[in-house]
Amino acid sequence: MQEQGGISEVPNPSMDMVQKSSVSLEKLQQGHSVYMLRCAECHEYPLPNALAEADFIDTIPEMVRHSGISKEEGNAVLAYILAVKKL
Ligand code: HEC
Repeated sequence: MQEQGGISEVPNPSMDMVQKSSVSLEKLQQGHSVYMLRCAECHEYPLPNALAEADFIDTIPEMVRHSGISKEEGNAVLAYILAVKKL
């Protein structure tokens, strides 16, 4: 099954994801699109299931500094990644 974003490990935000994560659909969509656009610029996509939650929580602030995305965009990416891990 081909997701619209192209990578099945990084699914488009859904109502199921909203319910499991308690994060709004808008924020998950922002996180997903920033992730797709920015998170493979310097390395392969860091797939949500490749690392533990704590590793993403520690790393995203570093990536915000590396990449020049805003703190808010970084928070949305983190919320999206953690939501995918709950699926
Ligand atoms: C401007 C370049 C750049 C961008 C854009 C970038 N990263 Fe990184 N990333 C790095 C570098 C360099 C490292 C390795 C050194 C470090 O950790 O600072 C790294 C390492 C990582 C690691 C650690 C990998 C491991 O195995 O421990 C994760 C997770 C990660 N990035 C996630 C992300 C996410 C999520 C995004 C999108 C928000 C992102 N990166 C965007 C440069 C970037």
